[in-house]
Amino acid sequence: MSPKIIMITSGKGGVGKTTLSSNLSLCLSQIGNRVLLVDADLGLGNICISMGIDTENSIEDLFFEGKTLEDITITYSENLKLVPGGSGVGSLTTLTEAEKKDLIESFLYFGRNEDYIIFDTGAGISENVLCFLEIAQEIFIVTTPEPPAMADAYGLLKVLDEKQNLANISLIANRCLNTLEARGAENKLRLAVKRFLNRELKFLGYVYQDSNVLKSSREQKLVCLQYPKSKAALNLMNLARKIHGLSPTKGSVSVTDRFMNLVHG
Ligand SMILES: Nc1ncnc2c1ncn2[C@@H]1O[C@H](COP(=O)(O)OP(=O)(O)OP(=O)(O)O)[C@@H](O)[C@H]1O
Ligand SMILES: [Mg+2]
Repeated sequence: MSPKIIMITSGKGGVGKTTLSSNLSLCLSQIGNRVLLVDADLGLGNICISMGIDTENSIEDLFFEGKTLEDITITYSENLKLVPGGSGVGSLTTLTEAEKKDLIESFLYFGRNEDYIIFDTGAGISENVLCFLEIAQEIFIVTTPEPPAMADAYGLLKVLDEKQNLANISLIANRCLNTLEARGAENKLRLAVKRFLNRELKFLGYVYQDSNVLKSSREQKLVCLQYPKSKAALNLMNLARKIHGLSPTKGSVSVTDRFMNLVHG
C-alpha cells in the first residue's frame, strides 16, 4: 500500500505546526504505523532541535554535499524516521521548479514503504509551501483562536481554494483554553468559508493550551513522550487516532467534550 501523505501548514507563523507534526508523527508511530516525518521548512527547519536530535545533517547536503536522503535521515525510533530541514543557509529557498519537483519525488520514493509521510512546512503562502500541495492527500491547517492567526488561516484557505478543492483540507485549533473556545474558532472559520468561498470546512480537532508543551520544548523532548498524560498529549494522541480512523482512547475525552460532540456532532 502506498503511504498517506499529510502536509501540516498555517497562515501565521508560530501557531504550533512543528509541535503538532512531530507529536502526531510520534503518536501515529506508537499506534503501529511506520512514519516518515519531513522537515519541509527549507529555510529554517528546527524539528531536530525540538526533538533533541543532535545532527550535522541537513537537507542542503542533498544539493551541496552529494548525500542521499538515506544518508541524512535520522531514525528516531523503530517506526519513526526524520528528514532534517534546511539550517538557515537560505539557498534552498530559491530552488528552481525542477529542483523542487525532483526533491519532492525523491521524498515520495524514499518514503514509499511507510504508512505516513508527514511534511511540516513553513508558514504562509510561499512557493516552497505551495509546491507540497500538489502531492498532499490531506492538508491540515493549524491556527490558534486569536483573531490574527484566524485571519491568516482564512487568507491561506482562500488561496488554496483557488488552487484546489478544499475537500482534503482540515482545520486544527491549537492552544485552546477550553472546548468552547475551540468550537468558537471552528465555527467562525467554517462560517467565513461557507459565506465567502461557498465551501464546507472540515475540523479535525483541537489541542489545549498546556504549559507542559513549553516545558517539554525547553527540555527538547516531545510532550507526548515526556508528559503523555498531559492534556495536550492526550489531545494529540486523539488527533492521531482520528487521522488513523480510530476512536478516542478511553478516559481522554472530558464530559464537556462529550456534551459538545452531542450538541455539534
Ligand atoms: N498547545 C500548546 N500549548 C502551549 N504551548 C504551545 C502549544 N503548541 C505550541 N506551543 C508553543 O508555541 C511555540 C511555537 O510552536 P511551534 O514551533 O510548533 O510553531 P510553528 O507553527 O512550527 O512555528 P514556525 O512558523 O516558526 O515554524 C513553541 O514555543 C511551542 O512550545
Ligand atoms: Mg515550525
